[in-house]
Amino acid sequence: MLKIAVLVSGGGTNLQAIIDAIDNGMITNTEIKVVISNNKNAYALERAKNHGIEGLCISPKDYESRAEFNEAFLEKLNSYEVDLVVLAGFLVVIPEMMIKQYRNRIINIHPSLIPSFCGTGFYGLKVHEGVLSRGVKVTGATVHFVDEGTDTGPIILQKAVEVQQGDTPEVLQRRVMEQAEWIIMPQAIDLIANGKVSVVDGYAVITEYLMK
Ligand code: GRF
Repeated sequence: MLKIAVLVSGGGTNLQAIIDAIDNGMITNTEIKVVISNNKNAYALERAKNHGIEGLCISPKDYESRAEFNEAFLEKLNSYEVDLVVLAGFLVVIPEMMIKQYRNRIINIHPSLIPSFCGTGFYGLKVHEGVLSRGVKVTGATVHFVDEGTDTGPIILQKAVEVQQGDTPEVLQRRVMEQAEWIIMPQAIDLIANGKVSVVDGYAVITEYLMK
């Protein structure tokens, strides 16, 4: 059984997609041990509670320095002994110590087709604003392992989504979530839980993949 922690900052629709996929069998062999938020008002915590999942808040604001926060954050995460850390709209920079300790065991969802519209400054609606201002016709989402860079780790899954004339950043954000994020995030977790993803020479390789 793959034990996971889901890290969130906001609404938690990706968390909900994971919970639903576990409930309906799209994700197998997986248990959410804890939901961790840096924001105590995140609706994601409410979603965890509604499903009887332990939720907690740990925020840099409550610590004197970033170093102290990083230490407490790592200690807290370690206490749950999870196999995989899932960043589902988590807006805090992951401490280097954590990346080292959880090498190829942290995944993130990014709402574009990496390497387009990613890296420093591309988060939330800014990604979709960038897509619209460049006028590309196709965007999408990417699930990748987290390394020391910003959105640079090995890519596990990507899914394309069409940009439509007249899209606003909000409309496009919603379409990317519905048609890509909520699909490939659960798929990636299911693949990992069933031992089908390995990292070879810096690339994520999917050993066997049957579309459900
Ligand atoms: C998603 O667009 C995700 O790709 C990005 O942050 C958003 C989180 O949304 N990293 P939610 O909290 O899962 O609803």
